[in-house]
Amino acid sequence: MPVNLRGRSLLTLRDFTTEEIHYLLNLSKDLKAKKRNGIKGNLLEHKSICLLFEKTSTRTRCAFEVAAYDEGANVTFLTNSQMGKKESMEDTAKVLGRFYDGIEYRGFGQSVVETLAKHAGVPVWNGLTDDYHPTQILADFLTVMEHVDKPLNKVKFVYCGDARNNMGNSLMIGAAKVGMHFVALAPKSLWPNEDLVAEMRQVAKYTGATIDFSEDLDAVIGADVIYTDVWVSMGEEHLFEERVKLLKPYQVNMDLLNRTKNDNVIFMHCLPAFHDTMTEVGAEIAEKYGMTEMEVTDEVFRSIHSVVFDEAENRMHTIKAIMVATIGNL
Ligand code: CP
Ligand code: NVA
Repeated sequence: MPVNLRGRSLLTLRDFTTEEIHYLLNLSKDLKAKKRNGIKGNLLEHKSICLLFEKTSTRTRCAFEVAAYDEGANVTFLTNSQMGKKESMEDTAKVLGRFYDGIEYRGFGQSVVETLAKHAGVPVWNGLTDDYHPTQILADFLTVMEHVDKPLNKVKFVYCGDARNNMGNSLMIGAAKVGMHFVALAPKSLWPNEDLVAEMRQVAKYTGATIDFSEDLDAVIGADVIYTDVWVSMGEEHLFEERVKLLKPYQVNMDLLNRTKNDNVIFMHCLPAFHDTMTEVGAEIAEKYGMTEMEVTDEVFRSIHSVVFDEAENRMHTIKAIMVATIGNL
């Protein structure tokens, strides 16, 4: 059946079929090639897009802006609005839906982006909530397609770290949908919510995916991809000391990469990463706790295995595909 995503919101990949995810990945590939060939697009001409940010961002904001401009759309970046303070989410959604053809939201509760989508009357794209980060997963899988010489459903993908945060949840969902062998290598207290795991194991029955959880570092043996994310997500800063204790054994370092026994293993990270002390927060942590690198060592981050900047670039091509597929003049 042909895929048609026109008018759809992207709140979590749970709502998308395997075919729809592959459609978005293939469209991303085409749009990336189009940009590389210097072809200016008009697939979003006469469209206006609103970018709502309640948390900080570099990649997601810039990806939406550049993608929109590349295909002829206009954007408004909105951070200090009345939303939530003097105006409810429902009323905000109803107002923005009158102005814009599509709305991106980055913030805290998943319920907020759901309320927006329910009342806006136009597609809403989740640019990260506490629970999910679906646009990141498309960029991650496009990067795997480019760097691992196997179809996605033959890839062993190991996520190390906080497996119950937005990235852990979303990678597990994506992996289940495309039929990967997904392993969350994490302390049990940071494994994803059991209901979500059960739901994804149901999906896996149809796609051939395997969803495993382990506290044993040998779980990385045979991995094609080692992925990590920050130990403390935005909004959880108060949990810093507890997380460091829990996650230090799961740091991605050269020993862990060697343990995969795969010379071609790739290292991925959604970024930003704490791999040195060149940031305000990194320097503060070094001074207070004597740690100069956290979830990934500088050696791995800068190694030949690392594809993190290709991954970052792919945020733009995949976000463009989402906008084109849902509101574009296709
Ligand atoms: N990976 C990611 O979402 O990056 P930003 O926080 O910079 O948008
Ligand atoms: N888990 C991280 C992802 C950042 C892109 C956070 O929410 O801060």
